[in-house]
Amino acid sequence: MQAVAILVAAGRGERMGAERPKAFLALRGQALLLRAALAFEAAPSVGRIVAVVPEPEIVAGRELLSSLRKLSAVVAGGERRQDSVLAGLAQVPDGFDGVVLVHDAARPLVDVELIEAVAQQAAATGAALPVLPLVDTVKRVRGGRVVETLDRAELGGAQTPQGFRFALLHEACAAARRAGLTVTDEAMAVERLGHVVHAIPGSMRNRKLTTPDDLAWAEAVVAGILRA
Ligand code: CTP
Ligand code: MG
Repeated sequence: MQAVAILVAAGRGERMGAERPKAFLALRGQALLLRAALAFEAAPSVGRIVAVVPEPEIVAGRELLSSLRKLSAVVAGGERRQDSVLAGLAQVPDGFDGVVLVHDAARPLVDVELIEAVAQQAAATGAALPVLPLVDTVKRVRGGRVVETLDRAELGGAQTPQGFRFALLHEACAAARRAGLTVTDEAMAVERLGHVVHAIPGSMRNRKLTTPDDLAWAEAVVAGILRA
């Protein structure tokens, strides 16, 4: 069964500091949301795409994504990222027994290979995400003082797409909600249930664009000036 991709694009993009929400900013003439969505459009394991956007951008979002054959819905997001994920999950039919892939529209350079790798691992084991090893030595700092140096070999940055069997993700999100928890990614909600989440290698290219510098980096990558 083909996967449903939920593209979360309903953030305000405050750290980007632009006029429009981040997902609608152009990267070499193409909105981040469209660029990310085209990777899922091209991924063989994906059957449907749901986009979650700020409520005032629903019409613009439908227009932007109108050329996608796999587009199934464009819906309004919520206050926190996890609320936007729930809005996307509400578009998945009850009883769907395939995989859901949740992806940040703010990672527009995701490639088809990574999407396929996550989808396959999630279908096989229930839960998977890309993790990028850290390059810096990592310190725990309290009140301006280093209290601990962590073992970098065991640490990594969580990326998206994060893939889960739908029933598992649904249960995990509902449980987090009941517990009144704020989770920063879906894997965290699934980990809480005690379910194993498999890490597959992330990629530098799949960086989340947060600040204007990140956008400039992505422009240079797409222009072929930088390799990533
Ligand atoms: N997101 C969302 N709904 C929210 C908050 C975030 O769909 N309420 C999405 C963003 O659109 C983004 C992804 O989650 O694609 C990762 O969030 P982040 O990079 O933090 O984006 P923003 O929240 O938009 O940026 P900022 O935190 O700087 O305001
Ligand atoms: Mg945010």
